[in-house]
Amino acid sequence: MARIIAGVASSHVPAIGAAIDNKQTEEPYWKRVFSGFEKSKQWMADAKPDVAIVVYNDHASAFSVEVVPTFALGCAAEFPPADEGWGPRPVPVVQGHPELASHIAQSVILDEFDLTICNKMEVDHGLTVPMNLLFGSPKAWPCPVIPLAVNVVLYPPPTAHRCYMLGKAIRKAVESYKDDLNVVIFGTGGMSHQISGPRAGLINSKFDKAFLDNLTKDPKKLTRISHLEFMREAGAEGIEMVMWLIMRGALDDKVDEVYRFYTVPASNTAVGHIILENRRRAAGKGRKPAAKAGSKLKRAAARAKVHRVRS
Ligand code: DHB
Ligand code: FE
Repeated sequence: MARIIAGVASSHVPAIGAAIDNKQTEEPYWKRVFSGFEKSKQWMADAKPDVAIVVYNDHASAFSVEVVPTFALGCAAEFPPADEGWGPRPVPVVQGHPELASHIAQSVILDEFDLTICNKMEVDHGLTVPMNLLFGSPKAWPCPVIPLAVNVVLYPPPTAHRCYMLGKAIRKAVESYKDDLNVVIFGTGGMSHQISGPRAGLINSKFDKAFLDNLTKDPKKLTRISHLEFMREAGAEGIEMVMWLIMRGALDDKVDEVYRFYTVPASNTAVGHIILENRRRAAGKGRKPAAKAGSKLKRAAARAKVHRVRS
């Protein structure tokens, strides 16, 4: 059986990718941002997931305004970086996991979530920036990735509640897969930001911090946030945060928050990041017993001096 061991959320600001590509990470402005992910990279290196499911949004790179799937699952063998106007980012091609992805497609669609299946897709900063933040800049990404692109660009995006329920269906799909795999799921985008119009530059730290608190402790409360409330409180692009609820829906009701980071701003955006671990980690064939797997993650957390908040 495969299992989801943890969820990770992170902003995906494109200028973070540009700072990496242009070797500006040591500049004070960017060091403030990247230093918040040092412990996370250590946590990820210790967690060693077999597969990552990355919930992200495409910014008119793979899809134009002519085709706007609400939920698009990447079932291809690989996903090259998209050209977003300055040539493709110099990051590795993302290797997919077509077998698990097809299994998820079948399970989730039979559970009545009508995904679009993508057998060819390029991935933009929405996916590659969180990958850099959690995995660094290796020559090849350390695990296969299943991209799930969510429409948060053109009205109407899916509701927060729909996203949360999709996360639950994804979890069920993962747990009914035949192979013994440890899976980490990413929710990306956000936090508060608005990049155009009279309110461009809007940041709402109070809203963001409450969102982070409730993501750990009371995610169901977040599923009642309407599109209008997201846009009013967190700016037009703050709606990206619905994607974090797919990640949260795929986790246990009660989780351990092992790390959190928040800084303002990066480009126009409040950068938020959180790592949530599932408590139940069933031992799979050839794996250490759950208690040991759990304590391994706890040791990793202690080493990285991450904090632990129980929901
Ligand atoms: C910015 C943030 C985004 O999420 C995005 O997709 C594009 C730009 C920004 O902060 O500039
Ligand atoms: Fe974005």
